[in-house]
Amino acid sequence: MSSAEVEVRERDPQGEVHGGVSEAAAESTFHEVDDRERIIPAIEFRDVTLAFDDLVVLDSLNFKVQRGETKIILGGSGGGKSTTIKLILGLLKPDSGRILVDGEDITDYTEAQMMSVRKKIGMIFQEGALFDSLSVYDNVAYRLHEQGVPEEEVEQEVRRMLRFVNLEDAIDKMPIELSGGMRRRVGIARALVGGPKIVMFDEPTAGLDPPTARTICELAIKLRDLEDVSSIFVTHEMNNVKYLTSEYAVVDDHGEIVFEEEGSRLCLINTKVLMLRGGKIIFEGTDESLHKTEDAYIQRFIHGH
Ligand SMILES: Nc1ncnc2c1ncn2[C@@H]1O[C@H](COP(=O)(O)OP(=O)(O)O)[C@@H](O)[C@H]1O
Ligand SMILES: [Mg+2]
Repeated sequence: MSSAEVEVRERDPQGEVHGGVSEAAAESTFHEVDDRERIIPAIEFRDVTLAFDDLVVLDSLNFKVQRGETKIILGGSGGGKSTTIKLILGLLKPDSGRILVDGEDITDYTEAQMMSVRKKIGMIFQEGALFDSLSVYDNVAYRLHEQGVPEEEVEQEVRRMLRFVNLEDAIDKMPIELSGGMRRRVGIARALVGGPKIVMFDEPTAGLDPPTARTICELAIKLRDLEDVSSIFVTHEMNNVKYLTSEYAVVDDHGEIVFEEEGSRLCLINTKVLMLRGGKIIFEGTDESLHKTEDAYIQRFIHGH
């Protein structure tokens, strides 16, 4: 029996013991926080250190990505951002410290054990990394074809993913016929096949023009707000930070997905910033507090000079 329940019963003036509305309300209020699944972070680094010879790339790194949260990782070139992602995928192993995915300590996992962990992670690289000899359909279907999924199901899933990235019309095209931004979106559709609950973006907007970069950010926002995906979004572009921390996606009365700006009355956006420098976290918090930081390096980074 929860303490909330006890209180309701004790306060009943008639001395009658009944559950009623209060109990139900208490239950629904506490349902989310009581849900063990939600308390366990999607990703957790505990004192993770990694050096390549004399170069300490990550120096006792500690952070968590909560469920449904987007963690933006900022930092200059060579700051250890891609290394962090490779550690989560088990492509590199730390010298010391622990790495947990969905509460599972994967630090000492073998390659075979890592395969099942990687299945629940969608990975979006800087380059779309498409197979040029395969159509958009076959590119997106790649993992499903490998797994021998029946074609009927493959087509359904491919169409669902292409709709998600607004590219259903391009289903029969070859990669060479697509613009850079479209290729990037096909890469995203391919990474999202099977509905991974953890998605990692490694500089997904590098080299794209601002409006196209924005569409990539909107995909990340949709995953966060409509699919309850936990993600790491590596970038060094402040425009991305602005979109991800100030806009949210909702479904309107007509069933259309729309993006709204966070008003002062709302605080829905589940996105935090983490900044790496020399293998250490030099900032962790909201976008607002990032901008208020007086640190000279951070200010230069934010303002691009
Ligand atoms: N396999 C490796 N062997 C040696 N040095 C590496 C290796 N991978 C990365 N590094 C070095 O580690 C540092 C961090 O790299 P990386 O994580 O790719 O940085 P970022 O993605 O933040 O630009 C860089 O100085 C890079 O040269
Ligand atoms: Mg990198």
